[in-house]
Amino acid sequence: MNVVECTAYGSSDVLRVRQRPVPVPSAHEVLVRVRATTVTSGDWRIRSLQMPPGFGALARPIFGFSRPRQPVLGSEAAGEVVRVGHAVTDFQVGDRVVLFDGAKMGCHAEFKCVHTARCLVKLPDSIDDVTAAALPFGGTTALHFLRATGLAKGERVLVIGASGSVGSAVVQLAKDCGAFVSAVCSGINAGWIRDLGADEVIDYQTTDVAALEAQFDLVFETVGALNLAHAMRLTRDGGRVALIAGGLGDMLRSVFTGHRRRIKVAAGPAEERADDLQKLVERTVQGAFRPVIDSVVPFAEIARAHDRVGSLRKRGSIVLTLEACPDPTRGPAYRPPPIVD
Ligand SMILES: NC(=O)c1ccc[n+]([C@@H]2O[C@H](COP(=O)([O-])OP(=O)(O)OC[C@H]3O[C@@H](n4cnc5c(N)ncnc54)[C@H](OP(=O)(O)O)[C@@H]3O)[C@@H](O)[C@H]2O)c1
Repeated sequence: MNVVECTAYGSSDVLRVRQRPVPVPSAHEVLVRVRATTVTSGDWRIRSLQMPPGFGALARPIFGFSRPRQPVLGSEAAGEVVRVGHAVTDFQVGDRVVLFDGAKMGCHAEFKCVHTARCLVKLPDSIDDVTAAALPFGGTTALHFLRATGLAKGERVLVIGASGSVGSAVVQLAKDCGAFVSAVCSGINAGWIRDLGADEVIDYQTTDVAALEAQFDLVFETVGALNLAHAMRLTRDGGRVALIAGGLGDMLRSVFTGHRRRIKVAAGPAEERADDLQKLVERTVQGAFRPVIDSVVPFAEIARAHDRVGSLRKRGSIVLTLEACPDPTRGPAYRPPPIVD
């Protein structure tokens, strides 16, 4: 099978198509033929070693000293089960599935084995592979942090980085909770972020977000644009802060700060939970959730997808297709209008 290996740390030139044997599923695994996968900010971070402040020194011990220990990146995929391990009872050959294997990665390949106890969910016919592949990374991260912080009807939430993969999911899920959503993005993205449900859009290119007068029940920082101190200044006493892309210093500080003003800070890695992915699938079928898709790129052009992620301007997810997939503009996924900058 064809896989894309990250052969070193560096620019997207380090990516190489390689041949590997098709893996054999163990007792509790299924083998999935990958039809669509994504290049996420996580893949880009590992390939380029661009880490949030303070995590740089930890990256090589965690991911591999001279190159990624797991050279096949890609954490999420959609496709079809083509083999099952002998102890698997809840999946069968022919099932369409979506999966999120987090740090185990390995989705930038034509076939991928995944344990059935991991984040693996069956897909209904009404969700195409491109839409499905864009569900887990942003959506489950958003659900994890919304669960950690809590959000009630009528509360005010500030979503910083609303046009990213995590942020565009947070906007929709927070609206679903009945919150008043203030979304921070650049002006070019304002229209489609409003279409996603934001009540108010703040253009960070013309407004100093850190200096806003408003106080929010929840500040959801998804891109590392505001540090913990700034995020807390925008939070009411007794409110919450979600720090998705915070630096190491802020993560450590989050344990000790906030007590005086009773502000709860949620930071650190998100869990990958099958029930969260199942919820996203159901909400998508109901038309209540639309994973945002920046672009759909053939698998062979993966370097182009990495470069788009590295621009830090992508909108939602970049999906790689391994063969002809249905037109995502006709499925439930939402595609923002083309970029003109
Ligand atoms: N803790 C965890 O478990 C976890 C899980 C997933 C992701 N993450 C981290 O979360 C971060 C977000 O991931 P992602 O995939 O959602 O990112 P992404 O899609 O790559 O974010 C790109 C978006 O960020 C926006 N942006 C850039 N600078 C901004 C600013 N100053 N203010 C507001 N928006 C800005 C861009 O909009 P413009 O074009 O308008 O600038 C673009 O649409 C990453 O750092 C990732 O590593 C953490």
